[in-house]
Amino acid sequence: MNAHADESVSVDAERGMIVLRTPKSVYTLRIGDDGSPRHVYWGTPLDATELREWRSPAESSFEADAAPDELPIETGARFGPAGLRVRFADGVRGAQWRYVGHDIEDGVLRLKLEDRVYPLACDLLYRVRPDSDVIERWTEIAHTGSADAEPIVLERADSASWTLPKQPDYRLTHLAGGWGSETQLQRDRLPVAETVLVSRRGMTSHHANPWLALDAGTATETSGSVWSAALAWSGSWRIAVHRDPVGRVTFTGGYGHEAQSFRIGPSERVRTPVFAGLYTADGFGGASRVWHEYVRDHVLPHPEEDRPVLYNSWEAMGFDLTEAGQKTLAGLAARTGVELFVVDDGWFGARRDDRAGLGDWTPYPGAFPDGLKPLSDEVHRLGMRFGLWVEPEMVNADSDLFRAHPDWVVHAPTRRATELRNQLMLNLARADVAEWVHATLDGLVREHGVDFLKWDMNRPVTDAGWPGSPDPDRMWAVAVQNVYGVIDRLRAAHPGLRIEGCAGGGGRIDLGMLARVDQVWASDNTDPVDRIGIQAGFGQVYPAAAMAAWASDSPNPITFRETPLRFRFHVAMAGALGIGGNLSAWSEEELAEAAALVAEYKEVRPLVQRGVAYRLQTPDGLTGMHYAAPDDSEHAVLVWRPAMRFAHEPAPVRLPGLRAGSRYQDLFWGATYSGDVLREHGLEPGLPSGDYASRLIRLRRL
Ligand code: GLA
Repeated sequence: MNAHADESVSVDAERGMIVLRTPKSVYTLRIGDDGSPRHVYWGTPLDATELREWRSPAESSFEADAAPDELPIETGARFGPAGLRVRFADGVRGAQWRYVGHDIEDGVLRLKLEDRVYPLACDLLYRVRPDSDVIERWTEIAHTGSADAEPIVLERADSASWTLPKQPDYRLTHLAGGWGSETQLQRDRLPVAETVLVSRRGMTSHHANPWLALDAGTATETSGSVWSAALAWSGSWRIAVHRDPVGRVTFTGGYGHEAQSFRIGPSERVRTPVFAGLYTADGFGGASRVWHEYVRDHVLPHPEEDRPVLYNSWEAMGFDLTEAGQKTLAGLAARTGVELFVVDDGWFGARRDDRAGLGDWTPYPGAFPDGLKPLSDEVHRLGMRFGLWVEPEMVNADSDLFRAHPDWVVHAPTRRATELRNQLMLNLARADVAEWVHATLDGLVREHGVDFLKWDMNRPVTDAGWPGSPDPDRMWAVAVQNVYGVIDRLRAAHPGLRIEGCAGGGGRIDLGMLARVDQVWASDNTDPVDRIGIQAGFGQVYPAAAMAAWASDSPNPITFRETPLRFRFHVAMAGALGIGGNLSAWSEEELAEAAALVAEYKEVRPLVQRGVAYRLQTPDGLTGMHYAAPDDSEHAVLVWRPAMRFAHEPAPVRLPGLRAGSRYQDLFWGATYSGDVLREHGLEPGLPSGDYASRLIRLRRL
């Protein structure tokens, strides 16, 4: 092995160890005697001597895989879940590696492996950045045979497998939910078993989010070792966490769910999505802050921009759109300080309800007799940007598009294609379909002066099939890659275009989407009480700037709960604020209160969207968020108490994001405080009495 080094990746040639260093963690591996990369250590920084002393447990014939693999294969004494599953034309299963070497370029380590017998190459890649503890990993797999060689079947191609140092016990934290109840935090002891987090829906899913965290059961919000990882993929995915009976935990993850396989032919190269991993010693809050910074600095296309305050009438008007009605709403929205006016579902084709019209992306003349231009001109005249809802991957059977191209939908030829929300899914894996989607959206943006697209996706994949394709399972991955390709092309051609990702609420929230949209719709549930939980889960990994959140009507259209306007706004102000209520029905007092809250939001927006976030919680049911300016000069603290408990004064809220030694002034009350007191004792939140109490507290360092 050659000795190479750059700032973050170094090779200890003597010990055959490769060491990746991030600001606050170390990741170490070595090449095993059989040529397979083996995991050594991932955790708090150790120096070279300590790493040399770090030992894997002794091997026995029953625990022979004691030196865990960086990507487990199916040969040799390996009995856990494999990260790479291949089958060759002669029926032989599993790779067996010869280590070819490595290179290091711009912080990316590439380990090169080749099968000892078959024309299969596999590179394991690791990217380390000097400013982040997140390590990005992915895999590149290639068929290296001659043109007439048989294809190789890929049954599983994970991006990475991760191993923790042995802990006395293990706890798994992950995000699960459903439509209207996305990203609910789950935290349970990890069983001695294989635990699978998965989406088989062809989309990221409302039901499980591709992020997890593991700890010894002792980490808190503010301290303790936490290992976490997030997959940058927007289709089906699978992460298998294996806690073996002798006390070690590894997890392997990547795109696709089980039983999908596809063939790679000579010269073909497959690149998996990134599976990013993070070790932090600063508890769950510390882990979230590193993820937020990583997403802002290295994932989102325009992290430096303020997300505009938007208005959207979907919740208030449903499909009942008219040019006059939208213009009235646009006028009221502009008065409340809205900066982006979004026309949602119902503006096109025969779309009077959800039974028809999807796929026919021309304005409905009954509602917009002169097209969308008069509305978009009016929105622009009012000083707002113009946004449009689209659901480009979908079609209603009752549409001109489906009548013209019934073969464009995902279906198995002998099966009935299941309709969900009365719609079918276009097969975006087909190049002609992806091309049509791109041309249609490009035309819409050009023709109607569109500044913002809300890209929706309202059903999962079922009855998967691709008639005419020799390798139909490819549909799952290629469709997602083509969605990415269409968005990337649109953004390149329209640099001013901004996009919101959406899938029936929060069905497609992941790092793959966030690399190409500016924000995502976290949930169709805008009830502020439910949102507190949804947002807390979202914020475990994704930053506030990427979380679209609306203040809408009361009673809430989904839960029928009645809450004060101020509480609805204060909860939505923890993300990229929008308004979803029927402004035509709001009183002058409500409009004035909304305008004041929007104005206040704009003052704290840089803190919320680009500050350092701390989750707050007191045992008496008060929760909140604290956003600190990175230089400590300004702070915004949102506190929410959905239900009054007894007649007690709420306990003071500790603010660990303030600095000891600094003094701060409350910009509303004028009172001044010492940072030490607010960190250790806490701040009296000064909430009004009763249920649904909330407050925005602003502090400035003196
Ligand atoms: C999905 C979205 C909603 C709205 C509707 C329109 O449910 O999440 O915000 O756009 O579709 O049909």
